[in-house]
Amino acid sequence: MAKSTWYLTTPIYYPSDRLHIGHAYTTVAADALARYHRLIGQSVWFVTGSDEHGQKIQRRAEEKGVSAQDFVDDIVGQIKDPLWKRLAISYDDFIRTTQTRHHRVVQAFFHTLQERGDIYKGVYEGWYCLPCETFWTQTKVGSGNCPDCGRPVERVRQQSYFFRLSAYQDRMRQYILDHPEFIQPPTRRNEMLAFLDEGLEDLSISRTGLNWGIPVPGDPEHVIYVWFDALLNYLTAVGYASDPEKFHATWPPDLQLVGKEIVRFHAIIWPIMLMAHGLALPRQVFGHGWLLIGDTKMSKSRGNAVDPLDLIDRYGVDAVRYYLLREVPFGADGSYTEDALVLRTNVDLANDLGNLLHRTVAMIGRFLQGSVALPPTAHPDRVLVREARRVAAAVGRKMDEHNLSEALVEVGQLVRAANRQIEVTQPWNLAKAGRTDALHTVLFDLAETLRVISVFLTPFLVEAPARLRAQLGLHTPVADWGETTFGSGPGRYSVHPGLPLFPRIERDTAPSAEAPTETESVSLEVFEQLKLAVATIVAAEPVAGADRLLKILVDDGERTRTVVSGIRAHYAPETLIGKQVVLVKNLRPQKIRGIVSEGMLLAASQGNALTLVAPEAAIAAGARVQ
Ligand code: MSP
Repeated sequence: MAKSTWYLTTPIYYPSDRLHIGHAYTTVAADALARYHRLIGQSVWFVTGSDEHGQKIQRRAEEKGVSAQDFVDDIVGQIKDPLWKRLAISYDDFIRTTQTRHHRVVQAFFHTLQERGDIYKGVYEGWYCLPCETFWTQTKVGSGNCPDCGRPVERVRQQSYFFRLSAYQDRMRQYILDHPEFIQPPTRRNEMLAFLDEGLEDLSISRTGLNWGIPVPGDPEHVIYVWFDALLNYLTAVGYASDPEKFHATWPPDLQLVGKEIVRFHAIIWPIMLMAHGLALPRQVFGHGWLLIGDTKMSKSRGNAVDPLDLIDRYGVDAVRYYLLREVPFGADGSYTEDALVLRTNVDLANDLGNLLHRTVAMIGRFLQGSVALPPTAHPDRVLVREARRVAAAVGRKMDEHNLSEALVEVGQLVRAANRQIEVTQPWNLAKAGRTDALHTVLFDLAETLRVISVFLTPFLVEAPARLRAQLGLHTPVADWGETTFGSGPGRYSVHPGLPLFPRIERDTAPSAEAPTETESVSLEVFEQLKLAVATIVAAEPVAGADRLLKILVDDGERTRTVVSGIRAHYAPETLIGKQVVLVKNLRPQKIRGIVSEGMLLAASQGNALTLVAPEAAIAAGARVQ
């Protein structure tokens, strides 16, 4: 039977403590990819789980005075529900390494490699990092700390079984060279090639004096090293040695998502284990970056972990999922801050998307009695048809490259294009002027664009797409990615205005800007803290009840943002559209007359005169000013 299933895995997490948003990050990313692959019609097998053996877990259980099994049962229970349940992780199997099905696989696999001569018994003398459950040689630990996490390592000397990694070094290197897509992104691939160049030593794969693990077949004094055990979960979860039909339909994994610190295990040790056994290698190991707090990795042991459940309680599951997948370019490290989560939600979801839906539904209600269809003589200028088609192709491409953040950037561009269309076509004036065909065309295109957006968002968000669709009068869930085609929706939309899709998050605790101190000169570093960029004005309107203020929407090259500016006495709003200006991008957002202003436009003033600062010649929005 040929492989017919798209097989996706996350790392299996240590249930040594409650998981944090770093763990949720990998799992939510995998979930979005699983949902996308289902929508493009593939049969998907998406596996996550828990890595329950090893010395660290045993010690944690001892500290708590409970049995290791009770200890892991409790934490694993909470990982499944409420954590993955509330994050709506659509896994097909949750594997626990303490399950009998897994014990059988590990022992059978160990036995096969032993028979083939790739596992032998010897003496291990070296260092062990307990938090990472990793063996290290003297040269690697240098001053006595783990090269990965920097914590002290323990001296170990004992009889051990070894896996003949060194014998496969050249084959592994050649495999990576022959399969450029095997390790992604390319930086991780280069790191692994450099690691191989240092030479591989045989790997100690058993421990004595520890009973929380899977015994070596025929030598129960030894338990199998937790990483050797854990990596094999990917075989257990698809019926290796128990369900040949399932196994052949699913093996090998199409994508293994892991954090960058464990790429080495997944892109060197694991494939060599498979080579030694004669099994096909995963098609891709993708090592994403870390969520950082300041400059350091978020982790429970550093005491800087953020609880995803707490964030869901306060901001909702979609805001959390959106933030995780949109904020950080997938693959790179990124800093987590709650301010950024709030800003992302307010700007992209509440302001850009929420307002688009609200305005579209309200206008269809007000001008067309709640129902719109494309007139036989459609208005010729249908910008959104073109833009939606462009974005559909781009999003598909980004999703196929697993580039989730950029896929969402593309979706954001369509949202902004639709908002811009409202400003440009001014449906209220079309209604006033009785230009019925144009009005119907514009409003139909907006509704159809929103429907397309609901399809794009379906892999990412779990509540908003259905709520958005309900306001458009669509009561079926998205079933197929083909629905992203503009024009494939219903011929008529009968709208039902509803609650705001994403209510704006109000935080009274937002820190206010600190007053700058007067100094005669500032260093270049201080100046460089200001992020100045060229932006293009896309809309402007007076702020009700404020004589001096205009609410201005600018395109900053990445997205549309709102800036409240005190230039009303100097500029009529309509004369500003299309002007290029200089935007202070990283000014702390501030609420002015109920509007969150996300930046400042530079202006020169003297006495009563004021003029906006503009680039001397046209340049792309987003160009840095320095
Ligand atoms: N049990 C091993 C994996 C075995 S896989 C055969 C393990 N577990 S872990 O609980 O420590 O989880 C590690 C994974 O969680 C990382 O590889 C990454 O996917 C995710 N993350 C944990 N902290 C993270 C961040 N701060 N940022 C991003 N992802 C992080 O290692």
